[in-house]
Amino acid sequence: MEMAGGDFWVRDLGLADRGLRRIAWAERLMPVCLSIRRRFAEERPLEGVRVAACLHVTKETAVLVETLRAGGAEVTLCGSNPLSTQDDVAAALASKGVRVYAFRGMSPREYYECIGRALSIEPMITIDDGADLTSTVHKILHGVVDEGVSWASGVLEDPRKTCSGVYGGTEETTTGVIRLQSLESQGLLLYPIIAVNDSPTKRLFDNPIGTGQSVLDGIMRATGILLAGKRVVVAGYGQVGSGIATRARGMGCDVIVVEPSPVRALMAAMAGFRVTDMKEAAEIGDIFITATGDINVIREEHFLKMRNGVILANAGHYDVEISKRDLARLSIRVEKVSDLITKYVFSDGRELYLLAEGRLVNLVAAEGHPPEVMDLSFSLQALAVKYLVENRERLEKKVHILPGEIDDMVAREKLASMGVKLESLTEEQVRYLREWQLGTS
Ligand code: ADE
Repeated sequence: MEMAGGDFWVRDLGLADRGLRRIAWAERLMPVCLSIRRRFAEERPLEGVRVAACLHVTKETAVLVETLRAGGAEVTLCGSNPLSTQDDVAAALASKGVRVYAFRGMSPREYYECIGRALSIEPMITIDDGADLTSTVHKILHGVVDEGVSWASGVLEDPRKTCSGVYGGTEETTTGVIRLQSLESQGLLLYPIIAVNDSPTKRLFDNPIGTGQSVLDGIMRATGILLAGKRVVVAGYGQVGSGIATRARGMGCDVIVVEPSPVRALMAAMAGFRVTDMKEAAEIGDIFITATGDINVIREEHFLKMRNGVILANAGHYDVEISKRDLARLSIRVEKVSDLITKYVFSDGRELYLLAEGRLVNLVAAEGHPPEVMDLSFSLQALAVKYLVENRERLEKKVHILPGEIDDMVAREKLASMGVKLESLTEEQVRYLREWQLGTS
C-alpha cells in the first residue's frame, strides 16, 4: 500500500503507467468530456473551487477528474465501493498530483477513512455516487454518530469545520438520489444537490445501455460461460433492469422478469418477457441478476428452491439485494472458486455460485460502463459542478435537476461526435407546434 505524506492512498504507484495508458484510451472515446475540458481550460469556471468526489475510481472517472482540474478545481477522490477501484487508474491520478484515496479491497474502516481523507480538502462541492460521502457530511454536521462517521471523522482534526463550507453537491446514481430525497423530505438537507442521475441524457443511456452491457460483461469475465440458451432471471424492471433484460435477450437468453410495480411488470410483459414472482422464478433460473435497489430480494426461501449450479449476480448499488447472510447460514461449506466466484455448498449437495461478493458485478468483475456512455454522464457531472458554482446564491436546499438546455447541449455534442445529423424544423413547423387554436380541419 502506498501512502505518501497523507497526499494519496493507493495500492501501488508502480501501476501508474498502465493507468495513464488506459485513461488515454478512455479519452479517445469521451469526446464531449474533452470538448468541455477544452472550454474549461480557456474559461476556468472552477478556479479555486475545492471538490471532494466519491466515485468508482475508473479510467472514465479519471477523465472527469482531469476535466474538473482543467476548469481550475482542486479535486480529492475516494472510491464509492470497496471493490470497484481500478488500482492502476488510482496510481495514475496520484502520479499526476491528485489526492486520491482508493484501492481495491478496502475494509469498511478503510473505506470510511478514505472518505474522511477526501473531505480533508474542506470541500465547497461534493460529487457522489451512492450518497456515502454526502451522508457522511450530513451526519457530521447533524451530530449523528455511527461506525462509518467515527472512522471518517477519526482522520480529521475538526470534522465539523471541515464540512461546514460545502455549498452544493451532485449525485450520480438512483440509489443515492433516493437517499438524498429522503434527507430533503425530513427537512435535513443542508445544501442543494443536483441529481445528475435524473437528467434524461444520463438515465436514458447510462442506466439501461451502460448497465445492460457492463453487467453481462461482468458475468462473462467472471465465469466465462455461454449466455445463449440460459434462463436469466432479472429482478427489477426499472431503467437498469430493463436494460439488462433486453441485452440478455439479445445474447440468446430466455429472460424471466420479477417486478413488484404493476406498471413496470406490464411493460416487461408487453416487451415479451416472461414475468412472474421470485418464488416461481427461483425454480427455473440458471442465472439471477438483481437490479432493484432493495434489500433481501433473493433470500432463504428462494435459495432453497434453486437448481444446482445457479449463478447469482447483483447490479444494484449495495451488496444487500442477495442475502449473503442466508446463503452462509444455509451452507455447510463456502469456497472461493476464483477472486470473483464464491461457491456455497448446501447440505443436500447443491452448489450456488455468488459473483463479486454480491457487489456491483459490472464494476467489480468488469470495468463498469463503457467510456462512450460515461462520456454523457460525466459531461453532465462537470456541467453540474459549473452550474452549482454559478448558481450557488439562488439554489434552494433541495434535490434539483439540471436545466433541459444542458441535456440538449450534451446530446447535440454527442451526436456531432458520432457524425449523426439532426433534423431542423422549418419556421412554419415551429409556429404550428406553438399554436393551440388549430385542430381538425
Ligand atoms: N458507474 C458505472 N460505470 C462506471 C464507470 N465506468 N466509471 C465510473 N462510474 C461508473
